[in-house]
Amino acid sequence: MSKPHLQIIIGSTRPGRRGGAVGTWFHDLAIRDDRFGVELIDLAEVGLPLLDEPLPPGRGPYTQEHTRRWSRTISAGEAYVFVVPEYNHSYNAATKNALDFLGEEWRNKPVGFVGYGGIAAGARAVQALTPVVAALGMIPVTRAVHIPLINRAVRGGGPFTSEDGLDASATKMLDDLFHWAADRRTPRLVATE
Ligand SMILES: Cc1cc2nc3c(=O)[nH]c(=O)nc-3n(C[C@H](O)[C@H](O)[C@H](O)COP(=O)(O)O)c2cc1C
Repeated sequence: MSKPHLQIIIGSTRPGRRGGAVGTWFHDLAIRDDRFGVELIDLAEVGLPLLDEPLPPGRGPYTQEHTRRWSRTISAGEAYVFVVPEYNHSYNAATKNALDFLGEEWRNKPVGFVGYGGIAAGARAVQALTPVVAALGMIPVTRAVHIPLINRAVRGGGPFTSEDGLDASATKMLDDLFHWAADRRTPRLVATE
């Protein structure tokens, strides 16, 4: 059987962002882990405009080609990891916009978080994002990854090198994602009467 398809979504779109380095670290770790087919998605490359569909997802057909393309991309995912920065005690706007574009594409799929920021280590970003993914019917796993003081951990355009324990917490999050992704593939008994 094929491996579940994990999509790692880099949320920051800022020039000079640290998110690219963090996303690359997690992507490499997930490949080494070897339980998932892994895809790295960069919202800076996806290039969605601010939501420009006349109707909420599911209330009518998508009118924009970029929405149809984003829908096809996300439909292929069986589990997601959002790599999110903390901005003003929450997560960044590009991540919210990318979520709001779609509906059913996200539903009933597990999602994990790699949050990063200053001393709060992206905790408030992850805390704010959790009810939003729940509203979309996703399954947020509780073991997130938190990276503090990101501006020291990634200098300029350099790589992110994980400190003690971070790889282990990332692997535990992958454990949870794998559990739910495998569970989704399990055939259900359906009552006929
Ligand atoms: C608009 C903005 C607001 C920020 N607010 C916070 C904050 O509330 N808490 C925090 O820990 N870091 C905050 N930071 C610092 C960021 O977490 C840090 O700059 C990080 O590198 C941002 O991610 P990025 O480089 O991938 O865009 C903020 C940064 C920006 C650009």
